[in-house]
Amino acid sequence: MEEKINKYINDINTLTFSNAQDVDEFYKKYLSKRGVLNDLFSQFKNLSPVEKKKTGKLLNELKTTALTKFKSYKIGEEQVKKKSIDLTLPGNYQSAGGHHPLSQVKRQIIEIFEKVGFKITTGPEIEDDWHNFSALNMPKNHPARDMQDTFFITLDPDILLRTHTSSIQIRYLENNTPPVRIISPGRVFRKEDISARSHCLFHQIEGLYIDENVTFSDLKKMITYFLKSLFGEKLKTRFRPSFFPFTEPSAEVDIYWGLNSDTDYKITKGTGWLEIMGCGMIDPNVLENLKIDSTKFSGYAFGLGIERITMLLHQIEDLRLFFENDLRFLKQFRI
Ligand code: PHE
Repeated sequence: MEEKINKYINDINTLTFSNAQDVDEFYKKYLSKRGVLNDLFSQFKNLSPVEKKKTGKLLNELKTTALTKFKSYKIGEEQVKKKSIDLTLPGNYQSAGGHHPLSQVKRQIIEIFEKVGFKITTGPEIEDDWHNFSALNMPKNHPARDMQDTFFITLDPDILLRTHTSSIQIRYLENNTPPVRIISPGRVFRKEDISARSHCLFHQIEGLYIDENVTFSDLKKMITYFLKSLFGEKLKTRFRPSFFPFTEPSAEVDIYWGLNSDTDYKITKGTGWLEIMGCGMIDPNVLENLKIDSTKFSGYAFGLGIERITMLLHQIEDLRLFFENDLRFLKQFRI
């Protein structure tokens, strides 16, 4: 019997499995109910105590050898399963990010002005009274301050969230002398109810040009160039007299949007014309506030909301969509 067991142990040790069928056969032969091990164990019961002692150890060795062999395949099989790559499966798709539609349009606008020599400047969102109001010809208690409902963020009424990006231009003029040709993009804040057409935060771009002999016709030419670059050569524009405390004369610029759809009727209030930006010749008081000689220098300024332009370019009807970070909305603008 010992001899037999030794042979089995030897057989098992030299055996290699090449497929699942080999393992099945192995199991049947050694480990099943009618297999070698059960058979040997029942023979073992009939041995004399002396022989039992000798054979028992060897029989146990055979049992562990057979079980280890069998388990080794199971483990190997799982490892193979884990490691193997199914080349027919789709890859791990990494979704590429994209720029927010407002950033894209901001970039578009900046590029148009960069082409004609404007330089980008930025400034802080938390401002003081001087840069946001007083330097811009809006002294304390001036009624024009009510045009832009302001967030004061501390008990100190001197500290506020800027209501327009004109504050950037004041900061720039404190450290630079004319000629000046800058555009200032940025986020601005106003205490307004949130609706489809207004929000307490939005984005502006303002432009400033100061030099000798700058006239309103220079302003008109620049704005027309800008709007035609953005909306197409055929665009019709018109300048309407308006009021801003920091410009004199001031104008509002309208573009002819047309009346081709219900939306067009809605957004142009049935006129076909749409107000798109404010502009004007810089008030001499502002130049003097910044110690610029207003008898020598003149200039123009203009400002526009990026949301408004983006809504027009992409036919978006609700302003709130820009701030909700809904991927279903944002993915449509991925380029
Ligand atoms: N700062 C103005 C606003 O926010 C826009 C503007 C800028 C108008 C420059 C005229 C000239 O309403």
